[in-house]
Amino acid sequence: MADLPTGFWSGWIIVLTCVSLATLFWIILSVYFAPNASEHPEAEPVWDNDLREGSNAPPLWWFWMLLAALVFSLVYLMLYPGLGSYKGLLNWSQGSRIVESYANFEESFQGARAEVANADLSDIQNDLGLMQTAERIFKRECSACHGPDGRGQASLFPNLMDIDWQWGSSAEQIELTIRGGRVANMLAWQSILGDENVNQVADYVTKFGEADGHPGQAIYQQNCVACHGLDGVGNPLLGAPNLTDNIWLYGGDLESVTQTIAAGRSGVMPSFANRLDDAQIKLLVAMLAR
Ligand code: HEC
Ligand code: HEC
Repeated sequence: MADLPTGFWSGWIIVLTCVSLATLFWIILSVYFAPNASEHPEAEPVWDNDLREGSNAPPLWWFWMLLAALVFSLVYLMLYPGLGSYKGLLNWSQGSRIVESYANFEESFQGARAEVANADLSDIQNDLGLMQTAERIFKRECSACHGPDGRGQASLFPNLMDIDWQWGSSAEQIELTIRGGRVANMLAWQSILGDENVNQVADYVTKFGEADGHPGQAIYQQNCVACHGLDGVGNPLLGAPNLTDNIWLYGGDLESVTQTIAAGRSGVMPSFANRLDDAQIKLLVAMLAR
C-alpha cells in the first residue's frame, strides 16, 4: 500500500475504510440498542391481526465479539499499513522485514566468516567441512569456466588442478588472480613475422629444448624471450606460460600452437572481488594452493 501512485487513491481508501468501519459500528449499535418493542408496543408490526413480529435482540456475546473485532481492526490499522499510504505506528513492511533478517544473518555469521578469513591456510585445508564448503563455492562460481572438478575446459579455461601456474602458484598470487582477475596478452604474430616464420617458431616451440639449431630458434630468441624467457619457462608476472612443460592451455599439437602464435591469445579471468567475500576467497585459495 505504501507505494500507491497518487495521494488521491490513498485518501480514497482511507475514507472508504473509515466509513465502512463507522457504518459497521452504527449497525451493531442499532441492533442492540434499538428501542425495545416490548417497551414501545405501538412500534411493533402486527401481521394477520395477531401475528407479532417480536424483537428479541441476538445474544449479547455476539455483541462483545463484534465489538472486539472492531477494536482489533482499529488497533491493527493504527499499527500496521492498511489505511492508504499511511505506514502505521510500527513502520512495518515486507521490505524492512527482509532488511532485518539480512542484518540478523550478518550478525550471526560474521564472526564465523571473519574467523575463516583470518585462519591459516593449513588449518582450513585440514578441515573437511570447510573444504567441502570451498568445493561448493567453486562449483557455483568457477566450474562454468574451469569445469566441475577444476580440470579446465575446451582448451580455453586453464586446468587449476595441475602443477602449472600461468600467474603464479603461491597463495598470494592465486588470491590476487581471484580478487582482481587477470587479462593475458599474447600478440598475434602472423602480421609481424609472416606465415613462414610463424610455422617455424611454432615447430620450434613444440620441440623446445631438443631442437638446437632449429630455424625457429632464432625467431624465438628475437621475439619471444622477453615474455617466455630464454629457457621458455615463462613469466608469472605477465601470465606468460611455461612452453617447455607438456601442459598447454590452448592445445599442444602443432596446429593449435601455430594457431595460438599466428592469431594471438587473450584469456580473461574475471575479477571476483565484488562477488565473493574475504572468507569465500580464502576458502578457494585454500582449495587451489596445494
Ligand atoms: C608480450 C609478452 C609475450 C610475447 C612477446 C610472446 N608471448 Fe606468448 N604468451 C604470452 C601470454 C601472456 C600468453 C598467455 C595467453 C593467454 O593465457 O591467453 C602467451 C601464450 C603463448 C602460447 C600458448 C601456451 C599454451 O599453454 O597454450 C604460446 C604457444 C606462445 N605464447 C608462444 C609464443 C611465441 C612463439 C612467441 C614469440 C613469437 C610469443 N609467445 C611471444 C605473452 C607473450
Ligand atoms: C568466465 C570464465 C571464468 C570464470 C567464471 C572463472 N575463471 Fe578463472 N580463469 C578464466 C580464464 C580464461 C583464465 C585464464 C586467463 C589467462 O589466459 O591467463 C583463468 C585463470 C584462472 C587462474 C590462474 C591459473 C594459472 O594458471 O595461473 C585461477 C587461479 C583461476 N582462474 C581461478 C578461478 C576461480 C577460483 C574462479 C571462481 C571463483 C574462477 N577462476 C572463475 C576464466 C574464468
